[in-house]
Formats: sequence, C-alpha cells, structure tokens
Amino acid sequence: MMTAVAQDRLGGPDVLYLTRRERPAPGFGEVLVRVRAASVNPIDAKTRESGAFLGDPPFVLGWDVSGVVEATGPGVRLFRPGDEVYGMPLFPDEAGAYAEYVVAPARHLAPKPAGLTHVEAAALPLAALTARQALVDAARVRPGDRVLVHGAAGGVGHLAVQLAKALGAHVIGTARSAQHPALRDLGADELLDFTEVDVHGAVRDADVVLDTLGGPDAFRALDTLKDGGTLVSLPSPEDDGVIPTAAARGIRAGFMLVQPDPVGLHHLTELVDAGEVRPVVAAGFRLEEVALAHRFAEAGGVLGKTVLTVD
Ligand SMILES: NC(=O)c1ccc[n+]([C@@H]2O[C@H](COP(=O)([O-])OP(=O)(O)OC[C@H]3O[C@@H](n4cnc5c(N)ncnc54)[C@H](OP(=O)(O)O)[C@@H]3O)[C@@H](O)[C@H]2O)c1
Repeated sequence: MMTAVAQDRLGGPDVLYLTRRERPAPGFGEVLVRVRAASVNPIDAKTRESGAFLGDPPFVLGWDVSGVVEATGPGVRLFRPGDEVYGMPLFPDEAGAYAEYVVAPARHLAPKPAGLTHVEAAALPLAALTARQALVDAARVRPGDRVLVHGAAGGVGHLAVQLAKALGAHVIGTARSAQHPALRDLGADELLDFTEVDVHGAVRDADVVLDTLGGPDAFRALDTLKDGGTLVSLPSPEDDGVIPTAAARGIRAGFMLVQPDPVGLHHLTELVDAGEVRPVVAAGFRLEEVALAHRFAEAGGVLGKTVLTVD
C-alpha cells in the first residue's frame, strides 16, 4: 500500500485529500519510482478545478517527479533499483505524482542531475521541458536573438530566461519589480514590470516571444515581434485570428503543448551540470500540506516553483 493525494470531485484545494491505495507495479518497459519530491504546476490546479486533460475524477494529480528507482519491469535496461531519476512521465495523461510511488515508462525519465536535491530536480521537468521545447524545438533560438519571456518569474519563465541566455540570446523579461534583481542574476538583460508598463507597447523587434499569458495578450504580442519572428503560446490554443494575422507578416505563431522528452531531459541535465540552468524553489510543502501548497502556488507573487516533499 502507499499514500497518495486523491480527489473525487472537481473544485478548490480542499477537494484534495490523503488516502491509502495499492502500490502500482511496473509493467513492460516501466519503472516503479519511490517519489521523493513532486512539483506543483498551474496545470495541476486547472485539472483539480476543471478536469482539464484528465476529465472527471477520481484521479491523482501531479506530473513532475524526482525519486529513486524501486523496481523495473520486464525489458528495462536504462535503470536499476537505487538509481536517482527525474522526469514528467505520461503528460498529458495521468501520472499520479502526488504519491509515494509512481510507475513511468523508462524513457520518460532521466538520471537526476547529481548537483540537485530531489526537491530542486522535481522543480525542473515540466517547466524546463516547456521552456526547452518552446525555445529550442519550436523557435530555434540562435545566438544574438532578442527573446521576450513573459511571466519571467514564473515556473516556466525563470527557466526560459536561463535557457535563452545559455543559447546566446538577448533576454527581455516581464515580471514584478521585486523579482528584477533575482532575474538579472539568472541572466535577464532587460526587465519590464507588467504592473507599471504596457509591455506590448514597450518592446519592439523581438525575434521570439514566449507567451505565457494567452488570450488577448497573444494578439498584442505580435506587435512586439519583428517580421519573420516566432510566437510560442503556452496557456491555451490561440484565438483563431492570431495565426493568419501573424502569417501576413511572416511570423510563425502557434500553441505548444509540452511532451515527455528524454532528449530534452538529458540536455537539461547537461545545462544544470554546466551551471547554466538552476531551478529556483519558492517554497516546499509536505505531501499532507498539498492544499496549502496549491493555495501558495495560485497566490503567485513569488519567483520559481512550489514543490511537495514525500517522506
Ligand atoms: N502548453 C504547455 O505545455 C504549458 C506548459 C507549462 C505551462 N503552461 C502554462 O503557461 C503558463 C505559465 O506557467 P508557469 O508554470 O510559468 O506559471 P506560474 O509559475 O504561475 O508563473 C506565471 C507568472 O506570470 C506572471 N504574470 C501574471 N500576470 C502577468 C502579466 N500580465 N504579464 C507578465 N507576467 C505575468 C506571474 O506573476 P505573479 O505571480 O507575480 O502575479 C508569474 O510569475 C500557465 O498558464 C501554464 O498553465 C503551458
């Protein structure tokens, strides 16, 4: 048996409760991971409230995981019991990372960066793979590109700032002034406070915009791009009008959904090992404090990620 965070109905953080359930067993190509830490992402709260990709409850939230391999299923050669691993298994299907154990396809995991704690490693996969798939795979950022990162203090944003810098870009970020010193330390070249400045009016000639805002901001973000630039939108499929408006100016615009990505995870591990990317953990909570953790994450106003520890 194991402890997990379950929910039987949609709603606010109080629908989450601790329960005991059967420990899963790894099937062909799968690994059983003893979870040491699992991070909280906005999709967790959206799923808790609306079902999102998972539909109707019951389900167990959580995708980001860092932990220790407990057992391997038939055919797994990548890992052995005792290996420290991290990843974002199965997204957008149910992974159930808010639990003592998860089962994951072996290739949805990678060795945990040696220099990171489990809490730090759990903060990385979903947010950092999103940043990497947006900036490297979708936008193909090159040295010298002007990259505008909205929500630069957020889970995705603070990692996107570092990744864009590592790719040689000139990085412009939007964040509250209180976060500017820390974001400069992470590599941001220019910062705009979105509570004080009309950021879409203030930036021109960006090569790439990472849109963490969506809605009407996706449209307005086109004003900040140079002709031929790239807009990658994360929150939701873009308004139908964005793509044709962008296309008329040669701008490549589109929604991107992050996917499990062992190549990306290995690249992130290299960047962490090289000191070019490090996750910032805004706060840690124990698994039994999950409702508090969701409230903290949804309140915002901090830099970095919220992480659950599992003892
Ligand atoms: N499509 C995908 O695959 C994918 C993957 C990951 C995330 N996402 C989505 O991308 C969004 C960001 O994710 P996240 O993990 O980075 O969320 P997060 O950690 O909650 O960060 C969001 C950040 O945006 C800031 N912000 C709020 N209003 C803003 C504005 N008007 N202009 C600029 N920044 C603003 C927030 O600042 P304050 O907290 O100070 O208000 C916060 O720092 C979420 O909607 C998430 O669901 C999509």
